[in-house]
Parts: sequence; structure tokens; C-alpha cells
Amino acid sequence: MLKLGILVSGGGTNLQAILDAIASGRIRNACVSVVISNNRGAYALERAAAAGVKGRCISPKDYENRDLFYQALLQELQENGVDLVVLAGFLVGIPPMIVNAYENRIINIHPSLIPSFCGTGYYGLRVHEAALQRGVKVTGATVHFVDTGTDTGPIILQKAVEIREDDTPQSLQRRVMEQAEWQILPEAVSLIAQGRIEVNNGKVRIKP
Ligand code: GRF
Repeated sequence: MLKLGILVSGGGTNLQAILDAIASGRIRNACVSVVISNNRGAYALERAAAAGVKGRCISPKDYENRDLFYQALLQELQENGVDLVVLAGFLVGIPPMIVNAYENRIINIHPSLIPSFCGTGYYGLRVHEAALQRGVKVTGATVHFVDTGTDTGPIILQKAVEIREDDTPQSLQRRVMEQAEWQILPEAVSLIAQGRIEVNNGKVRIKP
């Protein structure tokens, strides 16, 4: 049984997609050990409670410095026996100390087709604003492993979403979530739980 540690900062719709996929059997052989938020008011923590899953708040504000905060985060993951860390809208950067402790065992969902509209500064609505500004006709979402760069790790799954002429950043964000994020994030977790993901030379192969 793959033990998941899900890191969140906000609404937690991607967390919900994973909880629903476990409940419906679309993800098998995995369970959520802990949901950790850096933000006490995150609605994601209420979703965890409603699903009967352990929720914790680890906020940088409660620690003297960043290193102590990161140590507490890593300790919480380890104490809960987490095998796979899922960044589901976690707005805090993951330091090399944690990346190295969980090499190729941290995944992130990003709301564009990497390598477009990703890297430092591309988060939340900004990603969709940039896509609309550039006038691309297709965007989407990407699930990737986390390495020490920003959105640079091996790509696991991507799904495209068409852009409409009347899209606003908000309407596009919503459609990318519905049509891409909520599907490929649970799917990636399921593939990892089935042992079907292999990483070679920075590239992911999905075993049949
Ligand atoms: C999503 O758009 C995700 O791609 C990004 O942050 C947002 C999180 O939304 N990384 P939610 O908290 O899962 O609803």
C-alpha cells in the first residue's frame, strides 16, 4: 500500500480528486497518510477532515527560520511513513534537502503544458493570464516529478485543453482543472501505486 502525503495551500480540489479516486477504486493500492497545509485556513484541511484523513498545519510562521520549518515538514512526512509526496496546489518551494530525501517520490501538478508557462513566477492565475496573453490555442496541465529546479523534473502525464476566444483567466483556470488536472493527477498516483512508472535519464516511461 503506497502511503501518500498530500501538501496543500488552498482550496484542495486536486486533493479532493485524489480522495474521490481512492473512494471509487480508480486509485488502488494507495491511501492518504497525511494532508499537510502551510496555511491554517486552507479549505483543503476541511476536505481532509470530511474524508476522515489526518490533517496537519505546518506554517513557516511558527518556526524561527526557514530551515526549521522545512525540517518539521520532512519530519511530519517521515513520521507518517509517507512513500509518495503529492504537491496539490502547494505554494511553498521544496528545498533540496526534501527533494533528496524523496528522490523521484515527489510529484507536482502544474496548470500548463510544460515547458510553456512554467518556472519561477508562474503559479495560480498568472499561468492562465500568460497563456491568454500569448494567444496560444491549446494549453493544459502537467504532472511531473519534482527535482531541485522549478517545474523542471521528469514529466509523467500531460493533457491538453483548448482555449476559447471568450476565455478569461478564471474560465480557463476552471476548465484546465476540470478537463485536465483532476484527471491526470489521480491517474499519475494510480500509475505510481501500480509500480508502472520508471525514470531513466530524466524521462518517464510508463510500463504497460
Ligand atoms: C491548481 O491550479 C494547481 O494546478 C496549482 O494550484 C492549484 C490548486 O488548486 N498547482 P486546488 O487547491 O487543488 O483547488
